[in-house]
Amino acid sequence: MKIYENYSLLKHNTFKLDVKTRWFVEYESEDDLRKLLKDEYFRSQPIQHIGQGSNLLFRSDFDGVIVHSAIKGIEKLEEDATGVRLKIGAAESWDSLVKHCVEKGWGGIENLSAIPGEVGASACQNIGAYGTEASDCIDEVHTCAIETGEKRIFTREECDYSYRRSFFKQSENNGLFYITHVVYRLSKHPEFKLDYGDLKSRLAGKTINLQTIREAIIAIRESKLPDPEKLGNAGSFFVNPYLCIAHYEGLKKHYPDIPHYPVNGEVVKTSAAWLIDRCGLKGKTVGGAAVYEKQPLVIVNRKNATGEDIAALAEEIRRAVYEKFKIELQTEVLSI
Ligand code: EPU
Repeated sequence: MKIYENYSLLKHNTFKLDVKTRWFVEYESEDDLRKLLKDEYFRSQPIQHIGQGSNLLFRSDFDGVIVHSAIKGIEKLEEDATGVRLKIGAAESWDSLVKHCVEKGWGGIENLSAIPGEVGASACQNIGAYGTEASDCIDEVHTCAIETGEKRIFTREECDYSYRRSFFKQSENNGLFYITHVVYRLSKHPEFKLDYGDLKSRLAGKTINLQTIREAIIAIRESKLPDPEKLGNAGSFFVNPYLCIAHYEGLKKHYPDIPHYPVNGEVVKTSAAWLIDRCGLKGKTVGGAAVYEKQPLVIVNRKNATGEDIAALAEEIRRAVYEKFKIELQTEVLSI
C-alpha cells in the first residue's frame, strides 16, 4: 500500500487541474484494501475513491483521502468455442483491455475503443459509445463492502444497468462498495454494431473485422473529441436528456430538427450537444475553461482553468439550456 501526504492530483484528473489532496492512498491487493477499511483514522476522514480521473472535476483541493486501486491483471476464467470470460483488475487501463481483446479476436467491446479510464469505472459508469455499452458484456462485478470488508459479487442483473447508470452510481449506494475486479464475457463470433453515426461510411470498402472497427472508432473519436493529454477535458460533461413525449412534441413545433432517439412509448432521448449548440455556446469561455467547438458536450481546460471556472461554465450552460428549452441537463462528470 502506498500513502502520500499533500499530494498533487495533476496526474489523476484529465482536466489537468493542479489540485492537492491531504492524503492519497493506493492499495495493491484486496488484503491491502481490507486493512485500509479497518483503519480508524481513515474511516474518520472524507473519502473519495477514484479511477483514472477521466470523469471527475476537482473544484478545489481535497481535505481528506483520495483512494485509488492498483489491482491489475487480466485472468482468463473460461474459454470455449463461443468465447471467453475474463476477470480484470479494476486498475487495468480500459483501452489496453480493448486492444488486448481485439488482438486476441474476442469481440464485444471494440466500439468502446479509446475511451479514457480504468476497468473499475467502466462497470460503475456503464461507459458507452457507438451503439455499445460496457454492460452488454459485463458478467459479474466483484466488490469489497466498505463497512465490513467482505467480498460481494454482483451479477449483471444486480448491477441494474441503464444508459450511463448502475447500482454503484446511484447516490444512495455511493460509498457502500469498492469495485476490485470486473468479469467480462467476450465472443469469438461477435455481431458487429455498425449502425451508429458515420461508422459504416468510415468502413466503406474495407474488410470489416475487430481491428478495422477499432481503427475506425479511434479515427472518429480523434476527429471529434479532444485528446486529454493535449487539452484537458473529461469527455461529455452532461448526459443526453430524456424527455416526455409531450415536451418533445412541443419543442419539435419550434425546432423541427431536434434530434430524438426513441426510448419507449412515453419518453425519447435527445442530444445535449445539439441543445448546447443551439444556445450558441460553442467556444464560450469562463476564465480558462471553454466549450469545445467540435463537440459542445465537452468542456476543455483551454488555459490554466481552475475547477471553479469549469463549474461556473457548466452552470452557465445548464442555465442557458433551461431558459431556451426548459430542459434540465444532468452532469455526467462528478464534481468534488
Ligand atoms: N451535435 C450538434 N453539434 C455538434 C456536435 C453534435 O448539434 O457540434 C448533435 C448532432 O445532432 C449529433 C448529436 O449531437 O447527431 C450526437 O453527437 P455524437 O454522435 O457526437 O454523440 P453524443 O450523443 O453527443 C454520445 C456520448 C459520447 C460518445 C458518443 C458516440 C453521452 C453523454 N455521450 O455523445 O461519449 O462518444 O455518443 O457514441 O452519451 C463521453 O461519455 O465522454 C463520450 C464522449
